[in-house]
Amino acid sequence: MKFYTFATAQHLAQHLAQELLTLIARKPKAVLGLATGSTMEPVYAEILRQNLANPVNVQQLSTFNLDEYLGLAPEHPHSYNYYMHQHLFHGLGLAKHQVHLPQGNCADPDLECANYTAAIAAAGGLDFQLLGIGGNGHIGFNEPGTAFDTPTHCVELTAQTREDNSRLFDNPAEIPSHALTMGMAEIMQAKEVVLVITGAHKADIAAALATSQPCPALPASALKQHPNARVYLDAAAASQLQAGTASAVA
Ligand code: F6R
Repeated sequence: MKFYTFATAQHLAQHLAQELLTLIARKPKAVLGLATGSTMEPVYAEILRQNLANPVNVQQLSTFNLDEYLGLAPEHPHSYNYYMHQHLFHGLGLAKHQVHLPQGNCADPDLECANYTAAIAAAGGLDFQLLGIGGNGHIGFNEPGTAFDTPTHCVELTAQTREDNSRLFDNPAEIPSHALTMGMAEIMQAKEVVLVITGAHKADIAAALATSQPCPALPASALKQHPNARVYLDAAAASQLQAGTASAVA
């Protein structure tokens, strides 16, 4: 796992958007693993901006999102399905059959998770997985303590994750207690992974990740065992890294 720093989150987004669009141009049937959250908003805005200026063919692309809140219908404004349509899918013009998220309002969460794992495998696995990190080190909603070989599963969100995400809900009591998340297993099987960490509020977890051994207590540390994983940080998130940990890109 290599660490790369960018002067700002905007520089990072420009670089990452360019990498993703280049991947799609090279492999039109690429299978992308996608994330939601504040970190991804400039990245998706930049993908749409660059694709408008210099369009690539996205009609054969497939996407699989990391997670969805249990109990929320796809059209619920706080669902990740809604977020993805708002920030990326609509702008790119992706068709319904191209995009996949766990169904939050499914009748049988365990069956939904097993079907999601099977759908990723049927698509040939993930070519590229985009990740953000929670303040507690989670990736997807794989919370601390999750074994690295866990497949897609239903998870009870930790108090910290619910607190971190409460800003997005009008009423904190509305935050779902559970989510469906792609597992560490599918993430680790992706051919290429980029973990994005931006903002001063992520500096501590970035520094902990840099020095940690692979350990389920810090789920993102699993990526140290991945053959092709990169961590992209803006200067604020990289501010607590020891000298020599990261290479500067822009
Ligand atoms: C979202 C996801 C989460 C977020 C993480 C950071 O699909 O899987 O792991 O990436 O919670 O969220 P933000 O970017 O809002 O700080």
